[in-house]
Amino acid sequence: MHCTIVWASKGGSGKTTTTGNLAAALALTGYDVVVVDADPDGDLSHLFGIPESDPLVIRLQHLITDPGIFPPTAAVPVPLPAGSGTLRVLACDQQLEQAIVALGENDYTDLRRILDTFEDHTDLCLIDVPGARGPFVTAAFRAADSILLPIQPGDFERSAVHRALAQADTDAGYELPALGVAFVNTPLRSRALREHHLELTDAGIHVLQPHVRRASSVLRDPTRGGPAVISTPKSPVASDYRELAAAVIDRILRLGDQ
Ligand SMILES: Nc1ncnc2c1ncn2[C@@H]1O[C@H](COP(=O)(O)OP(=O)(O)OP(=O)(O)O)[C@@H](O)[C@H]1O
Ligand SMILES: [Mg+2]
Repeated sequence: MHCTIVWASKGGSGKTTTTGNLAAALALTGYDVVVVDADPDGDLSHLFGIPESDPLVIRLQHLITDPGIFPPTAAVPVPLPAGSGTLRVLACDQQLEQAIVALGENDYTDLRRILDTFEDHTDLCLIDVPGARGPFVTAAFRAADSILLPIQPGDFERSAVHRALAQADTDAGYELPALGVAFVNTPLRSRALREHHLELTDAGIHVLQPHVRRASSVLRDPTRGGPAVISTPKSPVASDYRELAAAVIDRILRLGDQ
């Protein structure tokens, strides 16, 4: 199982939307995928239509506070067409905040312990975290094998990418492999995109292709169908996410070869 944290040191950069769409695209191509909501805002859980108030859902915070629960029993399966792989969501809500803070700094490896229990039946795991640095991001870095950086092109975003890469190494405790920067939610022909892409390439930072266009179909009520690759599979933006998913797999396989 390969585990990737999706983070870019920036709020509202498209992390959750990218995580949800990539996870779904990868599962639709045949991979067995677990997607982890490690942001107490619970946006990823919402994207997959998991109700915040449903007391029957076992969430990430319960797994942290009660080591007696076998984590895979908590993951919520997302229905996919026949011939697909599997997609399961580890949900959370605001109570994750207290659970993670209560762990204390020395025990941020707990997320890894939880995710290791998925190892046998999972190819890929994607973790969604908040934009701000903090215990959630640290816990996810310690559980991750690589980082993927979704971002919009722009001046502030330039420094966010460099900050995120530095933080990755600090939190992981070694040079965490980067799958690359994914430009998302962007007009495809913008000057900012061309310039930012060039700056990253010059700095030796890999930029994944294709870029994901800004599209209104992404904004449809997610509770009526989940991420765009599931709810509007024929839309151009769904196609962007599917191609990006293929590029992500390619990078993961290359990492394995090194
Ligand atoms: N390709 C896209 N086209 C149009 N809108 C998009 C696209 N990607 C993301 N968005 C919108 O941009 C907003 C921010 O996206 P998202 O919530 O995924 O970012 P985030 O980085 O997870 O934010 P946060 O830091 O709050 O967790 C959302 O309203 C989302 O619907
Ligand atoms: Mg988010």
